[in-house]
Amino acid sequence: MKLKILLALMGMSVCVAHAATNTPAFPQADLMRIGVYYYPEAWPSNQWARDIANIKKLNLEFVHMGEFAWAFMEPEEGKFDFDWLERNVQLCAEQGLRVVLCTPSPTPPVWLAEKHPEILMVDANGRKMLHGTRQQGCWSVPAYRDYVGKIVEELGKRFGNDPRVWGWQLDNELSHYGKEPCYCGACQAKFRAWLKNKYGTIENLNRDWGNAFWSQVYQNFEQIRIPNSKELVAQINEHALLDSQRWFADEAADYLRFQTDILRKYCGHRQWITSNFMHMFGAVNPALMKDDFEIITWTHYPAHGNLNEGPLGFRLGSAAEMSFSHDFHRSINGFEGLMELQPGQVNWGEVNPQPYPGAIHLWIMRAFAADAKIVCTYRYRQPLFGPEQYHYGLVGTDGVTPTTGGEQYSQAAQEIALLRTHLQPDAKEPATYTARRTALLYNVESRWDIDNHKQTVRWDTMGHILKQYRALKRLGAPVDVITEEKSYGKYPFLVVPAFQLLDSNAVERFTRYAENGGHLILTCRTGQKDRRGHLWEGPWAMPILDLIGAKIKFYDTIPAPYSGKVKAGEQTYDWTSWAEILEPNAGTTVVATHADQFYAGKPAAVTRKLGQGTVTYLGVDSTNGDLEAQLIRDVFTRASVSVENLADGFLVDWRDGFWIATNFTEKNQRAPIPPNAKILIGTRDVPIAGVTVWQE
Ligand code: GAL
Ligand code: ZN
Repeated sequence: MKLKILLALMGMSVCVAHAATNTPAFPQADLMRIGVYYYPEAWPSNQWARDIANIKKLNLEFVHMGEFAWAFMEPEEGKFDFDWLERNVQLCAEQGLRVVLCTPSPTPPVWLAEKHPEILMVDANGRKMLHGTRQQGCWSVPAYRDYVGKIVEELGKRFGNDPRVWGWQLDNELSHYGKEPCYCGACQAKFRAWLKNKYGTIENLNRDWGNAFWSQVYQNFEQIRIPNSKELVAQINEHALLDSQRWFADEAADYLRFQTDILRKYCGHRQWITSNFMHMFGAVNPALMKDDFEIITWTHYPAHGNLNEGPLGFRLGSAAEMSFSHDFHRSINGFEGLMELQPGQVNWGEVNPQPYPGAIHLWIMRAFAADAKIVCTYRYRQPLFGPEQYHYGLVGTDGVTPTTGGEQYSQAAQEIALLRTHLQPDAKEPATYTARRTALLYNVESRWDIDNHKQTVRWDTMGHILKQYRALKRLGAPVDVITEEKSYGKYPFLVVPAFQLLDSNAVERFTRYAENGGHLILTCRTGQKDRRGHLWEGPWAMPILDLIGAKIKFYDTIPAPYSGKVKAGEQTYDWTSWAEILEPNAGTTVVATHADQFYAGKPAAVTRKLGQGTVTYLGVDSTNGDLEAQLIRDVFTRASVSVENLADGFLVDWRDGFWIATNFTEKNQRAPIPPNAKILIGTRDVPIAGVTVWQE
């Protein structure tokens, strides 16, 4: 609230937008719509009609245009040209294709940078980033906002009430592609204003930033700069860094709201608005847009030579990462989709292999299983020039022949059309599935803070979170990845992984949750600091100790090539990154024990009953997640909830009356299909990259 007042005083647009709940844009009967990016500005105008007709022939349902076309929309200052875009909107309408238009703010035209060089962002080394690529504009600079405001206004006037236009995307992967934050004068001033609003007095800031350390104390806000390791001799102040990350995310959200407010004047809620957030990127926080956008969309390129999964992972992508991301974006306001999903080989990875045959279809159907409302792919035609030359499209370099990706998008679109004919709108979610429903708590601030101060290079925050997530998907549990303010009541299980920053209010809510019958699972590194990032003046992880029924005597880390061992039941597991040594209170049961090091025999994980529910604390981050998988399975078993025993990477979910199995593993998998079920797509034995859909 205070922030809003401050921004209003600073003359910035402040909006209290409300996304339409029950928005008619994504009715259940549509299930999921599939579309593609097209860049008319880059192709001869005599090919537009052919290309758009061919998009229709691929069975796609919408076309996305314009996010990089500012130089064509406003070739000279104040001279707007939308006729070329209008012609393409019309060509789409004639084919029965919906249109998603974009604001072109990631690509300021050269005349703008020439006239107002102050709009260019400044990197950590203090250099201005020049014209010649994209995303060089700084959205905190008032002059940049003026120009963005004008072009968005013109787009709104022209297309905001146009029934041919379905929705809008703001900007593109809002970021400076890893060069954020910007360190220009406008950003420095906005950061200081944000701090003043948060702390009120410089004394408060000095206290919360721990500035007594190394005489870092400030006398006034004007002396503060955005923390920048390139300007500092020794370590960065973590508390200052965390605040700068919060500020950057708030400022990005403010910029998206600024554009949203302008468009809404013209489109109301007749057209939906979103932005395409970068997959798991973390510096811009999509959850901040939950009340502003009708749908939260994101971009995902699962296979670019990454080696973070099994032997075929570099061709199939990561099931867990993809699925987690769907579950996170959907949980923000109930509507999510992929605005960019890889169409084939890409150009920007270190290696860029071919996706596995069928993998593209697998990814699309995984989005369907996760309840996505749209899937769009970047891009229709493979570019013949420019920095993304090697990037595949749905058609090849000749501009007409479908690639294998094009064929798979077409196949998926036909399958969705088939599924629409089988939709039973009143189908009830199966009770066995509902009984496993789990909320996984995710707070990007905790993630930032741990990453800013990892304590061991062998720790991977996202990897740790995904170990718990994989364990849940192996049980066949539906998972919502939720932010803290959501209510936990409807979830029989609540998993809180490495939730480092806590306060007593959060612990109180966890306690009530378990007392009321919930099964709470907390993992290591939870509650070790307060929201400022200070350690507690008391025992380690003080606020959670009563809740977990144990003390945390100390934690250990271990250097490569060594590993530690933990025993649970008859099994022994390795850990390499983080292990806590626990001391249980009376009434708390030990479920895992350290099996080596000088603390062999001491507890590593504990569980207890609390009211109607249970609390389990997993003090160790195991190497491959198998320890977590077993201990989480045990929590479900003790709660008498029936579970599956799925291979890691074989995902099975239920949506709108359909069961969908997707196989990301390197083996065939058998889908858990009851004998009387009706298989609509695929087979009971699901091959590698295969998809099976059935109704019960
Ligand atoms: C995305 C970006 C697109 C395009 C694509 C290439 O991250 O939003 O504009 O560059 O990558 O894979
Ligand atoms: Zn800036």
